[in-house]
Amino acid sequence: MKKINVALVGLGQIGNYLMNELNKKKKDIELKTGKKIDIVAISAKNPNKKRLFKINKKLFYKNPLEIFKQKKIDIIFECVGLSDGISKKIVETALKNKIHVITPNKALISKHGDYLSKLAEKNKVNLEFEASVAGGIPILRTIKEGLATNKINKVYGILNGTCNYILSEMEATKETFLNVLTRAQKLGYAEPGNPKLDLNGYDALAKIRILSSLSFNKNISKQKCLMEGIENIESKDIDIADQLNFRIKLLGITELINNKLFERVHPCLVKKNSYIANVSGVMNAVILEGSPVGESVLQGEGAGPGATSSALMSDFLSILRGNIKFPFGVSSKKRKSISSYDLNKYSNSLYFRFEVNDKPGVLSQITQSFAKRNISVERLIQIPDHKSKKASIIIITHKTNELDANRCLKLFKTNKNILKIPTRIRLF
Ligand SMILES: NC(=O)c1ccc[n+]([C@@H]2O[C@H](COP(=O)([O-])OP(=O)(O)OC[C@H]3O[C@@H](n4cnc5c(N)ncnc54)[C@H](OP(=O)(O)O)[C@@H]3O)[C@@H](O)[C@H]2O)c1
Repeated sequence: MKKINVALVGLGQIGNYLMNELNKKKKDIELKTGKKIDIVAISAKNPNKKRLFKINKKLFYKNPLEIFKQKKIDIIFECVGLSDGISKKIVETALKNKIHVITPNKALISKHGDYLSKLAEKNKVNLEFEASVAGGIPILRTIKEGLATNKINKVYGILNGTCNYILSEMEATKETFLNVLTRAQKLGYAEPGNPKLDLNGYDALAKIRILSSLSFNKNISKQKCLMEGIENIESKDIDIADQLNFRIKLLGITELINNKLFERVHPCLVKKNSYIANVSGVMNAVILEGSPVGESVLQGEGAGPGATSSALMSDFLSILRGNIKFPFGVSSKKRKSISSYDLNKYSNSLYFRFEVNDKPGVLSQITQSFAKRNISVERLIQIPDHKSKKASIIIITHKTNELDANRCLKLFKTNKNILKIPTRIRLF
């Protein structure tokens, strides 16, 4: 039986769990691939940190780059997680040395995936990153293999479990964003130190960029695109959405419109009876529209060591079975750039919430500004607070393009009766 030498760099939340899985499942791996695995090197910053397994000091490297000089490696896992720096160096060095790479690192792949995939192809080794998008859901392999001959037009879904948990909990408990965020941090669903990259949409956008590349056989886009997070969503918005038969979800969406690429991440009002509205808590879901397959839905745990390790192990077995292929499904030489769809032209219904002084004339000032920008109102709700002499005005518009909506919002900036920047949520 052929012996395969494995190295694992990064023993944090993911690497720690993965190491245990590799040790526990050696027999299963042998059975399924006919290969015997030997973990010959591990690396993390701190050799003395308590892990789920006993550290064999002989295998431990404080500097992961030393592994390449001292050991013969066939497959390496990069589980450090930086978009550049040591993560990029490990992956680059491995590929140049004809070592297969497996990583859950979406930050690295969404930034350097084009370059690294070229390097992998040149050296005839794999670069696998199933775990970088939607945790345990095998969405990348589904696009690359299961749906290989389909023409995909649109992929969207809930790609960030932290945000989905917070929005679901705010609805269920009526608590504020900050209270629920604190609980999410305690439960390990949100990063304790700096959860910003989850909350502001950056994490979901990195995943959308990887999904677009695979779905549309294109290079990873670098263009600036619409990215809004959930930090400004208030319990009030969730309550009002509920009364209007909607739920608020942070969606990542990528689609081709007239052969132009439209990628975006933002909170959406989704109908309560839609599939996506009923994906709750830390769950992720990806919906894919392809021809001839039609609509396909994949749902599962989008993060956490168990789900992520499951995806890493699937990459591992794929390599052990000899499935060497292009990292993005087609040769890097054939992947083109696609120009971006003009966001200003994007048109849909919008939800606006204004916090205003409850005075005569304020409502008409708002509706007049809407009329000035040709935005027609479909529904209007006014919720007065007599005690404070303030009111919330909620407006749902008919289809409105982004350019008009943005110009209209500018008109409110100088209005002293409008107490804060209006909240805007797009309907989906
Ligand atoms: N956590 C999730 O649920 C999840 C889900 C999907 C994908 N991912 C991805 O998985 C990757 C790892 O995430 P994580 O949550 O496991 O991160 P983490 O807990 O912060 O672990 C990072 C690990 O890298 C080690 N490390 C840092 N700098 C190093 C260096 N210079 N040399 C060697 N080792 C170094 C750390 O060592 P010490 O332990 O000694 O500090 C730690 O073990 C990221 O790309 C993340 O995006 C995570």
